[in-house]
Amino acid sequence: MKDFYTRKSREEGYYARSVYKLKQINSRYYIIRRGDKVLDLGCSPGGWVQASLEIVGNQGFVTGIDISPVRRIEKPNFKFIRSDIEQAKIEGTFDVVLSDMAPKTTGARDLDHERSYFLAKTALEIAKEHLREGGNFLCKIFQGARYQEFLSEAKKNFELIKTIKPEASKKESKEMYILGKCLKHKKE
Ligand SMILES: C[S@@+](CC[C@H](N)C(=O)[O-])C[C@H]1O[C@@H](n2cnc3c(N)ncnc32)[C@H](O)[C@@H]1O
Repeated sequence: MKDFYTRKSREEGYYARSVYKLKQINSRYYIIRRGDKVLDLGCSPGGWVQASLEIVGNQGFVTGIDISPVRRIEKPNFKFIRSDIEQAKIEGTFDVVLSDMAPKTTGARDLDHERSYFLAKTALEIAKEHLREGGNFLCKIFQGARYQEFLSEAKKNFELIKTIKPEASKKESKEMYILGKCLKHKKE
């Protein structure tokens, strides 16, 4: 039996059930707005890209990065970079940086957490470098020993931090979303 959000995503033509996590978060916290430039880290198969394109409209732009290919998204305002995040050449400044990156899970919770922590940390570094001042950051992390460390690091850089477990996130999953609203003034 497919779950509610998996069926819904198929019916509505979205490439991943995770699309509803972003939609639920955005309808409450307005992190992405019409006309925004969005950077989506770990964007395959493309659910968050589809949702972001709907929100930003034709005047906005979405850049996605992933080691795996994205499904077909033929929009002039979407660019896909196939790369590991560690090696990706990212240029420019964005209004929003998203990261739904996840490691291949092993079932060993500590190891999965550690890998997720490093992906989240890399995403935060990219956000610090490529977000405009006042820009927003949304990032997934699996909870574990270094979760608080990541939160503390994120708190230093944003005016407001929220931890979110959207309704579409499976209850049994250790994933949490960290929202950083409004990047603080960048030091030269
Ligand atoms: C849960 S999926 C993202 C789903 C996506 N938000 C959507 O709605 O379609 C996590 C993605 O993170 C990507 N990923 C994991 N490690 C990565 C890395 N080091 N560099 C780039 N992408 C990575 C995986 O390839 C995978 O596609």
